Amino acid sequence: MKAMWKYSAVLMAMMLSSSGLDAQSATTTPQEVTFTKDVAPILQRSCQSCHRPDNIAPMPLLTYEQARPWAKSIKEKVLLRIMPPWYIDPNVGIRKFKNDGGLSDQEIATIVKWVDGGAPRGNPTDMPPPLVFDDSKWKIGEPDLIVQMLPKDLEIPGSGPDQWRNFLADSGLKEDRYIKAVEVKPVKGARVIHHIGTSLVYPDGGGQAVIQAKNGNVFDDGSGRLMKAGSKVNFGLHIHAYTGQPTATNVAIAFKFHPKGYVPKFVAITELMGDDSELDLPPNTDNIRTDSYLIMSKPTRLLTFTPHMHTRGKAMCLEVIYPEKSKKRDGSRVELLSCANNFNFNWMMAYEYASDVQPLLPAGSVLHFTSWHNNTSSNKLNLDPDNWIGYGQRSIDDMSVAWVTYYNMSEEEFKQAVAERNATSKQNLSSKLAQ
Ligand code: HEC
Repeated sequence: MKAMWKYSAVLMAMMLSSSGLDAQSATTTPQEVTFTKDVAPILQRSCQSCHRPDNIAPMPLLTYEQARPWAKSIKEKVLLRIMPPWYIDPNVGIRKFKNDGGLSDQEIATIVKWVDGGAPRGNPTDMPPPLVFDDSKWKIGEPDLIVQMLPKDLEIPGSGPDQWRNFLADSGLKEDRYIKAVEVKPVKGARVIHHIGTSLVYPDGGGQAVIQAKNGNVFDDGSGRLMKAGSKVNFGLHIHAYTGQPTATNVAIAFKFHPKGYVPKFVAITELMGDDSELDLPPNTDNIRTDSYLIMSKPTRLLTFTPHMHTRGKAMCLEVIYPEKSKKRDGSRVELLSCANNFNFNWMMAYEYASDVQPLLPAGSVLHFTSWHNNTSSNKLNLDPDNWIGYGQRSIDDMSVAWVTYYNMSEEEFKQAVAERNATSKQNLSSKLAQ
């Protein structure tokens, strides 16, 4: 399968340089692609949230002077879909996400054309005004509660191996509340934090993942997530110490709640799927397949898919097997939802479906994921391909699990949701036809 992805990257490169795409994009891609007119807007939209001073990426990409020396590397990373970090196959399954970080084929073509054309600056007056980043503000608005990871900043040395560390902080919440929105960010020393995963830990020991609310995770109207009194917050950090100087760092999570006493109609649940204690990765073996199933006994709206494997993880696809009575028109009962076909251990991503495409699963549907591991030396992150690897928490062990976030509905609510979905698809179709 790896070979196939390599092949498709090559194929894509060929397509991008072939006359086919040129002809097709002649109307949409400008003749001469310049930094100021064409590339800067893409970098603003998709790269600068990380690629700016004192943020998590190694170099800023704000100006022509900053981007020009990286042109070749930028072309390579976007063509292979390594950057921006977004590892969902854009060509299969659901294509619309709330937190979509991916570039469109068109945007990739523009960047490639710019680099192949000698990466010209273009007319300085075409340069869009610089974005203003105000890290002191929360994207979700004024929070009701902020929980800081540590009372005192964490000191990270100037160099050293990457670290994966967990910190548990008290939330101080005295009563049950329903979360309306949540956001996580480094409040200090963002440069040494590669990424952050957070989860709620209930006082009874049960956990609920709130993973990766980097851009602010806002629930749709009428829905929310329960945060029980006495909950703790677990911060899982991937620390990347390369700055050359000791850095003080800290992270905070902010919550906005529904009003006191309000119980949303739909309460989001995050469930871990995949019992991988049987995981069996023989040495020097590629494409080792693992399957896991989760039965949805009630009508369900699926919100988020978060694949999780360790360094040998390579791909994971999620599909739904519908119950007998809800066969699709073509007679099939299986629908592919998403494939993280370029899984990257260094970037644990939560993929949040856009509201109008969130899968609606009738009672009795089965979620099925298939994962593939690569325990050979062709996997650069694999430190010892001669070792048998099984399930475990340490990062030298491996895993094959996914978190799915969803909420249940009554049969009536489900019927209504399906009717609404059909109506909007019809509307979209007719407005497309009218164009
Ligand atoms: C979510 C944060 C984030 C976003 C968004 C992002 N990057 Fe990165 N980028 C990083 C980090 C962190 C690294 C360091 C390598 C790694 O950890 O993967 C990196 C590495 C790179 C590198 C390689 C640098 C090297 O040292 O070789 C290039 C080139 C790059 N990014 C370009 C881009 C471009 C172009 C975009 C937008 C289209 C983008 N990135 C979007 C975080 C980001």
